Amino acid sequence: MSAGLFISFEGIDGAGKSTHIAGLAEALRAAGRTVVLTREPGGTPLSEQLRALVLNDPMDPLTEALLMFAARREHLLQVIEPALGRGDTVLCDRFTDATFAYQGGGRGFDAEVLRTLETWVQAVPALPTGLRQPDLTLWFDLAPQEAARRLAGARAPDKFESQPVEFFRRVAAGYQARRDAEPGRFARIDAGRPREDVWADVRGAVQAKGWLP
Ligand code: TMP
Repeated sequence: MSAGLFISFEGIDGAGKSTHIAGLAEALRAAGRTVVLTREPGGTPLSEQLRALVLNDPMDPLTEALLMFAARREHLLQVIEPALGRGDTVLCDRFTDATFAYQGGGRGFDAEVLRTLETWVQAVPALPTGLRQPDLTLWFDLAPQEAARRLAGARAPDKFESQPVEFFRRVAAGYQARRDAEPGRFARIDAGRPREDVWADVRGAVQAKGWLP
């Protein structure tokens, strides 16, 4: 069983998680931890290639979900598990909750099929549960209307970022459902407030676990 820590960051596009991922990495390093920063889809050369396809090319929802999980499988085996095995702290910009939120909630894809894929892809027999999941998921919750306002004109939007607000309402509901199913794993961060208040909550959630002084 790994001695490392696995923290994922989730939220709709525009929720503002990026700066806080960098900030948390710095704080954890200052506390003496070795931090691996990574992202999904992506994190390995093959998974980054899959990312480029899935973020840009139109495709069937099942194809999209399968590519997300294919990228995840490579990432888990090549990056996440080895890092956790070394005792490192893995900060991952999105993980499987994003698939339930975007492909499940946003696209309306069958959650039962996603659960089956999750069970296959994240199987780690050495774990008591047999399934790799983040130790903590920081969910940056922001009203879809506000996220759209923040994203407007920021950069050329990808396939997901250019979806209408209604899509992101369904994505947000998908995150809410995942949190309701596993409240102990999630910390909900109200991302609609000033940056320093959001950071205080991010830090507080990690301190509450005893992982930061
Ligand atoms: P990012 O822009 O935060 O790096 O995320 C990439 C996009 O991919 C974002 O719009 C969310 C989407 N996504 C999914 O639709 N399903 C997934 O499983 C993951 C990991 C990301």
